[in-house]
Amino acid sequence: MIKFTEAASVFLKGFRRNKVSLTGMIIISITFPLLIVCALLDVLEVIHSPLFGAWIYGILTPLFILGHGIFFIGFFFVGSGPDKESPCSYGYIKNHFSHVSERTNFGKLILLASFLAIGNFIVLVLVGYTGHHYSETPRFCGTLCHSSMSPESRAHEISPHSRVACVDCHVGSGMKNFISSKIAGIRQVVAVTVGSYSRPIRMPTHGLRPAKQTCEECHRPELFHGDKLKIIDRYEKDEKNTHLQTALLMKVGSGGQGTGARGIHWHVSNKDKIMYTYEDDFRELISEVHLFKADGSEIIFKNPEVKAENHSRSPEHRSKEMDCVDCHNRPAHIYLSPEEAMDQRISNGMISSELPFIKKKGMELITAAYPSKEQALQVIATALPAWYTKHYPELAGGKGAHIIQAAASLQEAYRENIFPDMKIGWNTYSSNLGHHDDGGCFRCHNDTFEAADGSSIPQDCETCHILLAEDESEPEIIRTLQGE
Ligand code: HEC
Ligand code: HEC
Ligand code: HEC
Ligand code: HEC
Ligand code: HEC
Repeated sequence: MIKFTEAASVFLKGFRRNKVSLTGMIIISITFPLLIVCALLDVLEVIHSPLFGAWIYGILTPLFILGHGIFFIGFFFVGSGPDKESPCSYGYIKNHFSHVSERTNFGKLILLASFLAIGNFIVLVLVGYTGHHYSETPRFCGTLCHSSMSPESRAHEISPHSRVACVDCHVGSGMKNFISSKIAGIRQVVAVTVGSYSRPIRMPTHGLRPAKQTCEECHRPELFHGDKLKIIDRYEKDEKNTHLQTALLMKVGSGGQGTGARGIHWHVSNKDKIMYTYEDDFRELISEVHLFKADGSEIIFKNPEVKAENHSRSPEHRSKEMDCVDCHNRPAHIYLSPEEAMDQRISNGMISSELPFIKKKGMELITAAYPSKEQALQVIATALPAWYTKHYPELAGGKGAHIIQAAASLQEAYRENIFPDMKIGWNTYSSNLGHHDDGGCFRCHNDTFEAADGSSIPQDCETCHILLAEDESEPEIIRTLQGE
């Protein structure tokens, strides 16, 4: 029988002479139990703070690994001289345990060391696993890099994709994506630490994975079908906040299958393919559109306004295959225009449309220039009730609660869209899903682009939607649909 106590005492005695290994061992002995307890608390989701994760994976784990490093430096490089030999050094083991009589001691030492090594290995695997998991949570991406990411995580929280993790869109699956994202991640952590990131953060136009590896893991555009009725509610800036409606029948179409790709999602069909070249970081100025058809033919639409000598970048940095993100560029970080923010809140009842001039007053308050966010929120909270008290004193009594609620809702609209620290204001990021200011779809669907045969990319309104009503009060089509 091998006595562990005997082996352990030989082992421990050595430390008295090998201060370097001893230091390493002390660090390991302190971090080892702490790591086990903290990693378990994290796995069991007992503690939710992102700082707790940073403590485990940013401080404890590196210390644990550092302890091993110091231990092995001592083991291999210290105490191997003839006088300073310590049983905790490679030199000592080599010199003393080569005799048969000493092999039993050696065996004990090896056994003990193996037990420790296995214990440490298990802890490292556990921490590696939970650490990887932690680095993929919105809690890590969005909250830890607090100030720089807070607009994106706030916008993500209130988007239809709030339950989709940041990494599902930004990293995608597969080993290559995993490794390149970790390398990019290290660069970003450095940028956040030294504060060298841009404000606002630029859109990750080059960094985003192809949508096939992200969006299409969950969405199947080849299975989309039919048209979709879209109703947009708007309110005028008059006393009554007159309600206007736009009704569009969107030709959502399909990415394939059945009768084949057609309508809006024809762009992502797996037969035809579109490549385009662009001239700016935001991909707003498009210079060429190449349509590769399933039959092998190619049609090139050129923008004659962009001259070859004006190309701002090398070809590989200015061409892209068209995918979901070229239209759905804001699926998770949706910032609204002040009008949209007001209209949505009036439409869903957060702001009562019975308050006279609320659209006009609300717009004024949320778009005014303020020295700070705190001041903005404070002014919004006090100025709205004050205005109603002055101009509609009879309302302030009867609809007082509505006014307070409207003010709170205006504050929320401001908080969700404006981030002065990151230089994000109204309209910093715009959506391509439409054609505001001739952007979005009209970047390609306009009459400037021309193919060799003189044709252009279609722009008739009915290519994409049928406009059933535009900014009408009580449009007939909607009343018909509602059976009135
Ligand atoms: C549903 C997919 C999706 C999810 C989930 C998602 N993002 Fe994004 N994110 C995008 C797309 C697409 C863009 C590119 C926007 C563009 O090109 O206009 C983007 C852009 C960004 C940007 C650049 C700034 C900007 O707003 O354009 C940052 C930073 C960012 N995301 C961080 C995050 C963080 C942090 C999370 C998790 C809290 C997250 N994202 C979750 C799809 C997603
Ligand atoms: C992990 C799964 C997942 C991924 C990845 C994902 N989505 Fe989604 N997406 C969803 C779910 C679930 C919904 C439905 C949310 C709801 O109805 O509230 C949704 C909704 C949508 C909608 C409809 C939104 C609306 O306003 O109703 C669009 C458009 C969309 N996703 C586009 C994208 C794009 C573009 C990407 C890639 C950048 C993407 N999604 C990535 C799961 C995902
Ligand atoms: C050419 C632009 C374009 C491309 C490319 C595109 N979409 Fe869309 N998508 C749209 C438009 C426009 C709508 C209708 C939006 C609306 O509700 O007004 C839409 C609607 C959707 C919806 C909601 C469908 C519904 O019936 O409510 C989903 C989900 C979606 N797209 C996902 C995707 C995914 C995933 C991809 C990539 C594989 C993709 N889209 C590519 C423009 C595009
Ligand atoms: C990068 C350029 C580009 C952008 C951006 C773009 N399209 Fe297109 N689109 C094309 C090209 C090219 C065609 C094919 C023209 C042809 O067949 O001659 C096309 C065709 C279409 C068609 C007809 C498809 C069919 O059934 O044959 C629809 C519908 C359409 N686009 C909708 C949209 C919508 C909606 C948007 C914006 C959300 C959009 N497109 C943005 C390039 C683009
Ligand atoms: C290439 C496709 C395409 C073409 C061509 C096109 N539209 Fe649109 N249009 C869209 C998309 C996509 C939206 C956004 C729908 C949404 O809000 O989700 C839109 C939205 C609209 C809206 C509602 C905007 C709002 O916010 O109230 C109007 C009005 C409109 N289009 C009118 C037109 C008219 C008029 C034409 C013809 C001159 C036209 N469109 C041509 C794709 C197109």
